[in-house]
Amino acid sequence: MTTTTKKKTRKTPAKSKANISIVPTVEAGKVTNAELVARRDASVARGVASAASIYASRAENSELWDVEGNRYVDFAGGIAVLNTGHRHPKVIAAAKAQEDHYTHTSFQVVPYEPYVALAEKLNALAPGDHAKKSLLVTTGAEAVENAVKIARAATGRPGVIAFTGGYHGRTLLTLGMTGKVSPYKKDVGPFPSDIFRAPFPSLRDGITVEDALTGLQNLFLTDAQPERVAAIIIEPVLGEGGYTPVPFEMMQALREICDTHGILLIADEIQAGFGRTGTWFAVEHSGVVPDLITVAKSMAGGYPIAGVIGRAEVMDAVIPGGLGGTYGGNPVACAAALAAIDAIEEEGLLARSTALGEHFRARFSEIGARVAPFRMWDIRGLGAMLAVEFVTDFETATPDADLTKAVVAHALKRGLILLACGMHGNALRIMVPLTASDAIIDEGIAIFEEALVAAIAEQNA
Ligand SMILES: Cc1ncc(COP(=O)(O)O)c(C=O)c1O
Repeated sequence: MTTTTKKKTRKTPAKSKANISIVPTVEAGKVTNAELVARRDASVARGVASAASIYASRAENSELWDVEGNRYVDFAGGIAVLNTGHRHPKVIAAAKAQEDHYTHTSFQVVPYEPYVALAEKLNALAPGDHAKKSLLVTTGAEAVENAVKIARAATGRPGVIAFTGGYHGRTLLTLGMTGKVSPYKKDVGPFPSDIFRAPFPSLRDGITVEDALTGLQNLFLTDAQPERVAAIIIEPVLGEGGYTPVPFEMMQALREICDTHGILLIADEIQAGFGRTGTWFAVEHSGVVPDLITVAKSMAGGYPIAGVIGRAEVMDAVIPGGLGGTYGGNPVACAAALAAIDAIEEEGLLARSTALGEHFRARFSEIGARVAPFRMWDIRGLGAMLAVEFVTDFETATPDADLTKAVVAHALKRGLILLACGMHGNALRIMVPLTASDAIIDEGIAIFEEALVAAIAEQNA
């Protein structure tokens, strides 16, 4: 029996009669922040906390306007994502141009050039003159998970060593590596096995580099057989953990320890990379070449993309099909990343980061001495990845999370978006776009000072 199938022609869908806005409530004045807080409380899981109670309407470079039309200077940059600022014209143009061609094919089905071009660029930028390859995924946690998979496949070993106060993400494997209980790990364990924790050198806890290295050697004696350890992962500058740089001698010692035991060194550059510290990657300051680097955030100026860059032979340890994901290396995000990297190069943002870091450091120490004597215990960081830590007094150096929270709240009321960090929640970190003008930087610093004065006055009242 033969059947004839009638070929259906695809009809153009009729235009919708209703003029439905596809972008809800972005225009200022249509809804209040309070209304959105109420709607959010009723509809969004409370586990997704937001630092600010304002709702974004639009943003440009280092400024943001809320739905009520209020303007803010943005020192948070969407958690260190916006080294090139909100809506960098090059990034937006590249993303729009890509959207006019295709937005998704899945690299695992029909590959595309922007993915390859970005991998080439990342391989060229990463430290070390060995052959490199890259993998693109969507989020930082996914990059870290894949770095562990790659390290395990390459070494045939299960173990991973991470550090106190480190932050590597909120998925279950990365939570096992994240070294802070509340809020990240609270109530959601158990976590995967074969993850070990070594001490991070900490001025606050009196842990020197020597102590930290002794702790690591003790870990090898007590729990983590070195021949069963695939990787040591470390943030060259602790991000969520308080913007504390790893002392260079510690990073160099880790390299040696890894080489001695055949362990791979992973630098988690997700928060510190792409110019935040004045170099492409923060690890460059120490002269150490890691085996694998995880990247995300400011790589694409606001588009969700992440990756792992590594030694070619290590990256190729996983069999075809073992890496990837439907959206991994989305072409629009790849185009945005290529443009953001171009902007960092063309606009000299690495040098700008170093200069901004010096400016913030000088201004903060002057403000601290003048309006908050003995309350700013530490001003630390690398380049423009900088934090100030608040204490109740210098003698006990007791962390003052309440003062920190109050500064953030007073700053927001006065038009500055700030974000805290640190094991004790008592550090304020600077993640301002490196593209911000000097005038906006100084405007933000002036608001910070006013907020600090108000928060201290409130405490003393
Ligand atoms: C150092 C570091 N690693 C991993 C992550 C996780 O990235 P994501 O939030 O994109 O999953 C972050 C996020 O803040 C980070 O700072």
